[in-house]
Amino acid sequence: MAEPPAIPWWRDAVVYQIYPRSFQDTNGDGVGDLAGVLRRLDYLSWLGVDALWLTPINESPDDDFGYDVSNYYDVHPALGDLGTVDRLIEAAGRCGIRIILDIVPNHTSDRHLWFVEARAARDSAQRNWYVWADPKPDGALPNNWRSAFGGPTWELDPSSCQYYLHQFLPSQPDLNWWNPEVGDEFDRILRFWFDRGVAGFRIDTANKVVKDALLRDNPPLRPTDPPMERRLGQRPVWSSNRPEVHEVWRRWRAVCREYDPERLLVGETVLDDLETVARYYGDDDELQLNFNFPFVFADFTAGALRDVVQRTEAAFGPGRWPVWTASNHDVSRFPTRWCRGDRRRIGMALLMLLTLRGTPFLYYGDELGMTDVPVPTDRLADPLSHRLPGLFRGRDPERTPMLWRSEPGAGFTVPSMEPWLPFGNSGLSVESQRNDPASTLRLCRDLIMLRRESSDLRAGDFGVLDAPDGVWAYRRGSSTVVALNFGDEEVAVPDVRGRVLIASNRERDGAEVPGVLRLGPAEGAVLLSDSAYSGCQNLYELR
Ligand code: GLC
Ligand code: CA
Repeated sequence: MAEPPAIPWWRDAVVYQIYPRSFQDTNGDGVGDLAGVLRRLDYLSWLGVDALWLTPINESPDDDFGYDVSNYYDVHPALGDLGTVDRLIEAAGRCGIRIILDIVPNHTSDRHLWFVEARAARDSAQRNWYVWADPKPDGALPNNWRSAFGGPTWELDPSSCQYYLHQFLPSQPDLNWWNPEVGDEFDRILRFWFDRGVAGFRIDTANKVVKDALLRDNPPLRPTDPPMERRLGQRPVWSSNRPEVHEVWRRWRAVCREYDPERLLVGETVLDDLETVARYYGDDDELQLNFNFPFVFADFTAGALRDVVQRTEAAFGPGRWPVWTASNHDVSRFPTRWCRGDRRRIGMALLMLLTLRGTPFLYYGDELGMTDVPVPTDRLADPLSHRLPGLFRGRDPERTPMLWRSEPGAGFTVPSMEPWLPFGNSGLSVESQRNDPASTLRLCRDLIMLRRESSDLRAGDFGVLDAPDGVWAYRRGSSTVVALNFGDEEVAVPDVRGRVLIASNRERDGAEVPGVLRLGPAEGAVLLSDSAYSGCQNLYELR
């Protein structure tokens, strides 16, 4: 077994999430593909990211755009093939960029051959790969569990008169992780991709994989239950966070340790309680990283963000490394959700994201300040907007194509092609921002570069500093200070001495701060504080 390096690569990394259908189309069908990711490697390496997380690329009938896998060992033909993945891993590696894939262990597509076989007969060899239950004697559903995508979790299979479990769409049957054959199969899937050079996996819905063996009813909500717990309309105590799920992640982590460098596991657990989020790290024997949804869903105020970051620091302690995400393919993009499209706020949010203690995950387009795109009803693609019409806007607005150029096709696809989802404001394109030193894109890139060069920002400890109302100020390491003004008025932050390294208002870069830092509305700054001036200055010199 390989010795783990002292500092794992992901601790210092900035990860960039790509929704491959929306990044770059290379064959003019209006759908992005893996060859498109390959084509844009020079951009990604210019931007300075260290790893790409690709949402599912496996074969899939696309009921949930790849989160319904029909073959874990092959690639969706619209995206490419195994050869393209190999070329991508190789070419990205030459740019110092690693590839993280998405893995969906909770459920498969109902068109996966495992499920086709399982539903063929009650005594079929793979029946027990999924969760089946008889109706209650009075004909009622096996229990009261609710699906995350609306309605009960149970779907009747008329030919066998049994129900199968699905915590998402009815066409996404849940796997039965009590069956050791399922565990063995997933070990093979992990090794299949690790052997090809994949650096790690983002684990879809990692807290729901093991279900109560007795399928006990979930209890009703309590008035004090927090927002994410309330989503199902019941407390999911028997359908998620089961103690046995941790055995699965310990087993996967052992597979990761067979490789050098050790492969990475990043979990998705949509949970309010940060102690529970922390538990998925185990004793450094489960996931190395786990997404922080309380941060994603926090209000964009100094108080709310300071609170969630401090609670994270307290729950995680020094031994667990946080992840900071502002946008992803399931939530409204932060420039809309947090910043209502205000460019100043967008810059400040990026400055925050890239200066916290932990690994930042950017979502494609974050660096442009890309906002949600309204999608006309006749073009909605997300199954959720069809399943819960009127109730839920669906997730299409945050999945629209990347804006490369300000011209028809946006540099994403050929000009004559209507992309699979509509384009947003082409004025935000890479082309229009790349050469503008005041742009959001340049700010994002410069922050990534600063992070690379500053050991304070990469690894320094985190401490909150006193600041006036509406301002959140923190220290990183021995000599880096970050101050963010969430208010609409100019403020004076006392007791700050040093030099501005990067400010969201770029005209402030390099300014000396003699003792009071003035911040305009929605302005943020990273400073090298005075204590470090003697001798250390060059450490932070920007290229
Ligand atoms: C995760 C994914 C989401 C998907 C769901 C079911 O939450 O991020 O996109 O629909 O799992 O797989
Ligand atoms: Ca294509």
